Amino acid sequence: MVIIAPSLLSCDFGNLRKEIKRTEEAGADWIHWDIMDGHFVPNLTVGPDVIKSVRKDTDLFFDVHLMLAHPLNYIKKFSLAGANLITFHIESENNPYKVIETIKSYGCKTGISLNPDTRVEKLLSFLDVVDLVLVMTVQPGYGGQKYIKNSAKKISILKGIRAKEGYKYLIEVDGGINRETYRDAVNRGVDVLVAGSFVYSFHNLREPIKILKQSALHIPLRRKRHKGY
Ligand code: DX5
Ligand code: ZN
Repeated sequence: MVIIAPSLLSCDFGNLRKEIKRTEEAGADWIHWDIMDGHFVPNLTVGPDVIKSVRKDTDLFFDVHLMLAHPLNYIKKFSLAGANLITFHIESENNPYKVIETIKSYGCKTGISLNPDTRVEKLLSFLDVVDLVLVMTVQPGYGGQKYIKNSAKKISILKGIRAKEGYKYLIEVDGGINRETYRDAVNRGVDVLVAGSFVYSFHNLREPIKILKQSALHIPLRRKRHKGY
């Protein structure tokens, strides 16, 4: 079963506690936190104190996606705030080995992410030591962008490498996931779906979560349109 991780980036931050509660009640598996520093990406979001303030309200797994130029400076704070998994970008400025080692030293699961323009080859020397690989299917920074199908090919490549080498990492996809695009990711073998604008565009969050949990292989038949119809 695919893990569903709604991205809070599209929720109502003025009612964060309520939003997390209704996300949990709707059947989400994880909560995805997008952390942006205004340098690595041209946008700002929340810091560890916000995560800490809601940590006691839910037992859901906190999946923390760091879009930071210097992730190393913040790992301790995010782990103490209650992160379960910390993902950093291979394009960030710190030594990836040092970042991975530090995340592990604080007892968190470790994730590594790559932007749409970055090749999987860049990750090869880290794949045996991470718990998750996050494939970006939009340029990081904003919710509500269009799924870049070409980037999703990396899901298939990472699945192949995992099988060949006997690695254990989960494969997560983030960006532009909706009722259409999730099928492409699931059919490629993704384990975790992040979805922000799609999930929070619904009044009742059970609906989008139910849709994303549907078997992607079941593709409803569409009547072909011919000229003259
Ligand atoms: C983009 C973030 C994503 C984003 C997903 O930088 O990493 O998590 O919020 O939002 P949607 O699902 O709207 O593309
Ligand atoms: Zn994200």
